[in-house]
Formats: sequence, structure tokens, C-alpha cells
Amino acid sequence: MMIAIFLTALVAVSFAEEPKHTPPKVQVYSHQPGKFGEKNILICRVSDFHPPDITIQLMKDGMELPNANQTDLAFKQDWHFHLTKIVTFTPMREEAYSCKVKHGSTVKDYAWEPNM
Ligand SMILES: *[C@@H]1O[C@H](CO)[C@@H](O)[C@H](O)[C@H]1NC(C)=O
Repeated sequence: MMIAIFLTALVAVSFAEEPKHTPPKVQVYSHQPGKFGEKNILICRVSDFHPPDITIQLMKDGMELPNANQTDLAFKQDWHFHLTKIVTFTPMREEAYSCKVKHGSTVKDYAWEPNM
């Protein structure tokens, strides 16, 4: 009986140390203001999520853009993680760019708004 209580308390403590599942905040933007036909950098910033297992894809018309670079997984004091993924691109009229984020069992597509 005493052992069972002790184990229950131990499990409760270990769960309290790390935060629960927290979905990411996602920002999709370009380095320069978007202009059709001009080389630019597409940036997807994913922050404040937990646990750290995450997949980020930069997409053009539903296909992943090759040669994207991803920063190291950084974490803040509260155990929430953030990552940035970038790729050079030349936006053209009629093309749709987005950042696809898979965290846990949730997949969401965040569109880049070119403001053109
Ligand atoms: C990605 O990394 C490679 C190798 O370090 C570099 O040549 C390239 O310019 C980087 N791409 C971007 C968009 O910064």
C-alpha cells in the first residue's frame, strides 16, 4: 500500500516537470516584400511547441521545395521549442506557397500571403 502511494506520487512529479502537448505557433513570411519574378527567401518560423518532434516542409503548389535549410532545435527555459526553416525561391503569379507543419497527429498547412 505504501509503495503504491509512493509510486503514484513519483509519476505525478515526473509528469509535472514537462509541459503537456502544446501546438506550435507558425509564421510564414518572406525576407523581402514579395515581388513576382524576383529571387527571395521564404521563411517559416515555428515556435512555442512541445514535445519537440515536428516536421516542417516548405511547399510550392503542394510539392515540397528542395534544398531548404532548417535551424537547430532551440529550446527556451520553459521547455518549449522553436525552429526556423528557410529556402530561396522566386515567386510567380498563380503559384501557391505554404509551410506544412506536422506535430503529433496534427498536420496543418499555413499559406504565405504575398501581399501583391
Ligand atoms: C542553405 O545552406 C547552404 C549550405 O550552408 C547554403 O549554401 C545556402 O545558401 C543556404 N540556403 C539559404 C536559403 O540560406
